[in-house]
Amino acid sequence: MSQFTQLFDHWIRHDFVEINSALEVLYQQQADRANVDQVGESLKLELLNQGQQCITPILKEGNTDQGFDSAFDLLGNVGLYMAACRRHEITEPSRESRSPLVEASALAMHIGASIGVTPRFATAHLTTHNQAINGQYKRFTDLASEQLFVDYNTRGILAYKRVADALLKIKALGVSHPISGDLFGVAAQAMQDVIQVNKVLFEQLDSDSFFYQVRPYYKPYRVGSQVYRGANAGDFAGINVIDMLLGLCVANEPSYSQMLVDKFLYMMPEDQAILRDVMRMDSLMNEFLAARSEHRSAWYQTNLSSFLLVCDLHGEAAKQHHDQLVSKYIAKPALQMVETHLDKITASGPPLPVLLAGLEKLRDRRAARQRDDIVTRYDDIQQLKASLGE
Ligand code: HEM
Repeated sequence: MSQFTQLFDHWIRHDFVEINSALEVLYQQQADRANVDQVGESLKLELLNQGQQCITPILKEGNTDQGFDSAFDLLGNVGLYMAACRRHEITEPSRESRSPLVEASALAMHIGASIGVTPRFATAHLTTHNQAINGQYKRFTDLASEQLFVDYNTRGILAYKRVADALLKIKALGVSHPISGDLFGVAAQAMQDVIQVNKVLFEQLDSDSFFYQVRPYYKPYRVGSQVYRGANAGDFAGINVIDMLLGLCVANEPSYSQMLVDKFLYMMPEDQAILRDVMRMDSLMNEFLAARSEHRSAWYQTNLSSFLLVCDLHGEAAKQHHDQLVSKYIAKPALQMVETHLDKITASGPPLPVLLAGLEKLRDRRAARQRDDIVTRYDDIQQLKASLGE
């Protein structure tokens, strides 16, 4: 890390958090908590100028060749700064045709293009690749609700990754392998961990604080001339590895493949590689369907019932995400929001009803629900369930 990069990192971990936190206090005191206009103007100026002072010498150095990890980390710091400027409406993509943060944009584009990721901060920067110093990892604010959200997002992502790893190992062994039974057990346990994470978030995260003080840092913002959608906890390969290896979602279905195409550059390069590989694999569900004539074999009965348990749990977690988390923390507060702010809610940009309909379809595919408007694996799951105990 160069000296300037170190100074920037120090600023992000200290003064940056203080300024954001102070601004959050000011916003919270207003009758319309969503308004940020004409509030804390001197703090916003400090944020803008201090960030720029850190970034300009790094841009001048022009050297991003310090290994992937430090380049990715620096991109995260630039991204946190740009996202905070967007949150405080120092920048606003619908108001501008280019980001006024010229130096930050240039640095982000230089790094993003050179390491093969989107030139903005991504989920991994705050969760799985967020190095702690003396127990403190990087955050926007000192709010307890933000820490709870990030802690449990990290736990959820890591648990999904454990499920995905176990399923990938089964692909190499085949569904009839005795050890595949053990691996389905590992996958089921990790899926239970995801369910527990969702439960804690649903019970403990303060809905107002999340909606008004945490979520706004995840909005889309402009880098250079282009608007990049906000980060969300789904920007890692594992969730889609699970969808496709279980067979509940398929890569040749247009809306699902569209989602995959759109999220590639938001993931770490290693995740991009895994996802590409899995898009070319056949699912474990299809392996079981092809082996139905073996239904009297002990392996079939044991491994299929473990497989179906993992499918059920994946559906369960998807229902929690949509019916509890998205509903409580996004959809319901949005209903109460003053009309003028409604266009600024989601991280991905589409209007809320469009976003919700897309997430609902994902939930129903994962839960293999019977639907006549989209393809789900309802019939296949029913057939497999019927072959248990035959
Ligand atoms: C308060 C908690 C959470 C809320 C309110 C929430 C909300 C959302 C929303 C609204 C989206 C759509 C993206 C957008 O906003 O544009 C999304 C996407 C996603 N979230 Fe969450 N989320 C939460 C926690 C989690 C956790 C803990 C996980 C587990 C890793 C997770 C996994 C995903 C995934 C995988 C996606 C991508 C779409 C999909 O494949 O389902 N979320 N989330």
